[in-house]
Amino acid sequence: AEVKKIAVIAGDGIGPEVVGEAIKVIKKIEELYEHRFEFEHGLFGGVAIDEKGTPLPQETLDMCQKADAVLLGAVGGPKWDNNSKELRPETGLLGIRKALGLFSNIRPATVFDCLKDASTLKPEVLEGTDLIVVRELTGGIYFGEKFRREGEHGQEAVDTCVYNVQEVERIVRQAFDIAMTRGKRLASVDKANVLETSRLWREVVNRIAPEYPEVELEHVLVDNCAMQLLRRPSSFDVIVTENMFGDILSDEAAMLTGSIGMLSSASLGEGSFGLYEPVHGSAPDIAGQGISNPIATILSVALMFRLTFGYHEAAQAIEDAVKEVLDAGHRTGDIAVDKSTAIGTEAMGDLIVGAIRKAS
Ligand code: NAD
Ligand code: IPM
Ligand code: MN
Repeated sequence: AEVKKIAVIAGDGIGPEVVGEAIKVIKKIEELYEHRFEFEHGLFGGVAIDEKGTPLPQETLDMCQKADAVLLGAVGGPKWDNNSKELRPETGLLGIRKALGLFSNIRPATVFDCLKDASTLKPEVLEGTDLIVVRELTGGIYFGEKFRREGEHGQEAVDTCVYNVQEVERIVRQAFDIAMTRGKRLASVDKANVLETSRLWREVVNRIAPEYPEVELEHVLVDNCAMQLLRRPSSFDVIVTENMFGDILSDEAAMLTGSIGMLSSASLGEGSFGLYEPVHGSAPDIAGQGISNPIATILSVALMFRLTFGYHEAAQAIEDAVKEVLDAGHRTGDIAVDKSTAIGTEAMGDLIVGAIRKAS
């Protein structure tokens, strides 16, 4: 069988812990299916700053560019929080997304029935919630010009937000395409009552919408969307929005599933290549304790199998295994209602690996 190359950049904090469990899952798939994988590991984030003096060493980027897909853990931590911009782990993360042309970040928030009581929201509000946030990932205020200057009242800081028509078109088309494969409802989220970039965004969405007559489109202002996500989460199908709004709304959407430890993501460009990572960060508050939830990363592997490799059966086997283990009542601390029964990262990973079966 064709060997797929997976570049692994585990990063900092709980990154290596959760990635370790995801790799066990991939190896189990190799045992059960014809699929073959080759892993290469690279330094990235804070550990790369410590060892190589930069968060995204050239050799790590080269390795990722040569791979079929990238599996990423998380980066960042208090150790590097006061560093200059070039020596921040997060700068490496933005750099790799940009360098690999990954403009589209897909973040599904699927509510497992058995986890409804793990959410801080009422179970009846969550009923039927199954949404995807499509976040623009290589533009907007994250990548606009940033600088300091002396103003009338001392130092000033400036961040600029820029979007061009082409950047908006490609992400909006992707979101419409995804909506066509699902519930055919698209919410475009912006702040068009204030921001010029949002007014351009809305113009582009309205221009493209007639190409997708079957998709029911709504424009939602971002502040209202933040509220509606908690009030009527099940009414959303696909949400498309710019970089920073998508960052914030997807963490909010994570709580619908019970925990940020459940939210997977795929970052895609024009081709099938993709970078897969949990939505959460390096969780310095629990790093090294072996208690983090590996499910977000494991579900990111399922996304990798579907979206980059087209291994739908193996992806389904992983998702079914996660559901089976959760249905059986196993919980890491973040999703446990009774924290005294919580299991650790490795135990959760092993249970999921053990539950993976080949569809007959
Ligand atoms: P975070 O997502 O790391 O943690 C937020 C909270 O959620 C913490 O209480 C943490 O313990 C909990 N949590 C996160 N993932 C979990 C998991 N898998 N299992 C159980 N609990 C989990 O966000 P933060 O604390 O704001 O950021 C910490 C660092 O991570 C910062 O340096 C930030 O820049 C970085 N960060 C990196 C990424 C990334 O690499 N993609 C994403 C977000 C934040
Ligand atoms: C994420 C993170 C990153 C982002 C940070 C760490 C740069 O929060 O992947 O959601 O804001 O994109
Ligand atoms: Mn984020």
